[in-house]
Amino acid sequence: MEKTSIHGMWSSRTAFILAATGSAVGLGNIWRFPYLASDNGGGAFVLVYLMCIALVGLPILIAEILIGRHGRRSPITTLAALTRETGAAKGWISIGWIGIVAGILILSFYSVVGGWTLHYSWLYLMQAFGGAHITDPAATFSDLLANPWELAGWHAVFMGLTVGVVGLGVEKGLERAVRFLMPALLLTLLALVAYGATTGHLGKAASFLFEPDFSKVNAGMMMSAMGQAFFSLSLGMCTMMTYGAYLPKDISIPKTGAIVALADTAIALLAGLAIFPIVIGFGIDPHGGGPGLIFTSLPLAFDVMTGGVIYGLMFFGLLFVAAWTSSISLLEPATAFLVERRGIARKRGSLMVAGLCWLIGLATVFSFNIWSHVRMLDRDLMGLIELVANDIMLPLGGLLIALFAGWALKETVLREQLAGISPAVFTTWRWVVRIVAPLLVLMVLLNVVL
Ligand code: PHE
Repeated sequence: MEKTSIHGMWSSRTAFILAATGSAVGLGNIWRFPYLASDNGGGAFVLVYLMCIALVGLPILIAEILIGRHGRRSPITTLAALTRETGAAKGWISIGWIGIVAGILILSFYSVVGGWTLHYSWLYLMQAFGGAHITDPAATFSDLLANPWELAGWHAVFMGLTVGVVGLGVEKGLERAVRFLMPALLLTLLALVAYGATTGHLGKAASFLFEPDFSKVNAGMMMSAMGQAFFSLSLGMCTMMTYGAYLPKDISIPKTGAIVALADTAIALLAGLAIFPIVIGFGIDPHGGGPGLIFTSLPLAFDVMTGGVIYGLMFFGLLFVAAWTSSISLLEPATAFLVERRGIARKRGSLMVAGLCWLIGLATVFSFNIWSHVRMLDRDLMGLIELVANDIMLPLGGLLIALFAGWALKETVLREQLAGISPAVFTTWRWVVRIVAPLLVLMVLLNVVL
């Protein structure tokens, strides 16, 4: 197969790690992980989540990057070429389709929540210039949710900013910006954890997050944890495959994969340790926080901390940037497909996909107000889209990716792509993607269906 991709290549290992971490670290870590932990009883959820990352996530991350680097094209073209090369059934190409549809569904609600981060950045910016304080965060948040116009407006701004980057191609500017904005996000989180330590509630937060209560383990919670592992690592929808296609040959996939997985997990855990001391300290019940958790809890602390406005602005501003670098990677697969297959210009293609995502996103917007009464499978519309895309389609896509790498690809290809790792690690990885990971995903998916 080709040595390089026609779309260009990452300039270095660091460039790839930054891009892949930029995709992985986002709302999933800071918005979604803490509230899922809150809704699912804390420690038990975290434990199942960590097991999913180690046993399923990392091995599949390696498989995705490897398939991408071997194919060197956008996912559907890569899979088509690899099925020809190996004589495998054409059906494997459906992995690419699952990815495109999942990406569109995820971006539809991701952008709505991305809009919340913009709204809150705006509120803190105004406050820094003497505007009103957020004194009752629960009311501020429910006022925002009650207003479909405002939600749809911020959703449009967020989507516009995403198209701006994807339409122009990911420029050096963004790569450079991310180089210092991601560390800045990490520092802000660390500062919040340190603040939590001064309040004396860090210990309680840690025991909430790390002391598992096994009575909380059930099929639904395992599916949430598995779906979250895929969502947070950007797996199962060919994002990492696409990024792998631009990875130079001499860079170790297992090592870079492990760095990305570790960074992603560390940020999620730090987010938990930043948020729960505040939640507990202000007497909020840490259970059942729901999607509003960070928006209703953190502003309480920002209101009393010294320099709280600046922290608020930094936190929500950087969270927006983290969401932005992820949403780009959500829009990319469908856009690349339109460009490759339909000969549509990149700008127009990204605009068309983003327009569709914006429209589907209105279902999420309305699920908080005019359609809040609509419920299916005990969930509102946003919850339903999350269930289908994150908890079902991503694990299913990941399952197929693991099987494809484990069974369809030739051993020589695998050895060539994973050159440099020890034979024991190679064999372990291979049997994990052949059997262990697919079985675990299947068990979790079936458990919920049956
Ligand atoms: N990993 C991103 C986050 O945690 C979301 C994402 C999912 C991005 C799938 C790309 C693909 O916010």
